[in-house]
Amino acid sequence: MKKKLIVGNWKMNGSLAANQALLQALLAGMGQSACGVAVCVPAPYWAQAQVLLASGAIDLGAQDVSQHAVGAFTGEVSPAMLKEFGVRYAIVGHSERRQYHGETDAVVALKTQSALAAGITPIVCVGETLAEREAGKTEEVVKRQLAAVVHTNGHCISEIVLAYEPVWAIGTGLTATPEQAQQVHALLRAQLQAATSHADRIQILYGGSMNAGNAAQLLAQTDIDGGLVGGASLKAVDFLAIVSAAQ
Ligand code: PGA
Repeated sequence: MKKKLIVGNWKMNGSLAANQALLQALLAGMGQSACGVAVCVPAPYWAQAQVLLASGAIDLGAQDVSQHAVGAFTGEVSPAMLKEFGVRYAIVGHSERRQYHGETDAVVALKTQSALAAGITPIVCVGETLAEREAGKTEEVVKRQLAAVVHTNGHCISEIVLAYEPVWAIGTGLTATPEQAQQVHALLRAQLQAATSHADRIQILYGGSMNAGNAAQLLAQTDIDGGLVGGASLKAVDFLAIVSAAQ
């Protein structure tokens, strides 16, 4: 069976003191985890997190990465810079980046390519808005988003982690039901199968108000291989409960 993966997305939260307390509590509470665990922390804290996570029990992730390798791109952070801090994963195409920073499907595809070229595993996010779901466009939207990434990355697609994050479920307390999530995950799996013979090993995470109470049911679905967790990743007890639901 594929190993599950639980990833915390701290978003723009944290401070030196709070990060230290949270990471120490996670490490102390986790023991030997049978699933993969990672936290995507804000860039200024990678150096701190790298030291605190030196045991390797929890992997370090970034929340974004540049599509460019080097040069005059003010404010951007290259994948090589991530590597220097031991970053293993980079979230790419999160709906907040698409919404507030105008990231298009094409940009998301290039960021995926840039991460892969540097040996960083991109966690590629797709998901429909509430209006798109209500208009019956969920399938069309997530397929279009994934198709752009497949088109640009070819067979390397087998090296990504995919995350289905319905936008209406992010930070709202509204979670997709396990059946709704599984339905989309199955569509995405089929799309990956058409693109690579290694589709079955690609982890497809669910994200959107995953919490200690709903994680086990979501993670029990055939095509849900883990979680991308926002709000609940900021509290050690909640995040640890999700990790243990994934064991
Ligand atoms: P949430 O965020 O768990 O707070 O809904 C998930 C995400 O945006 O990755």
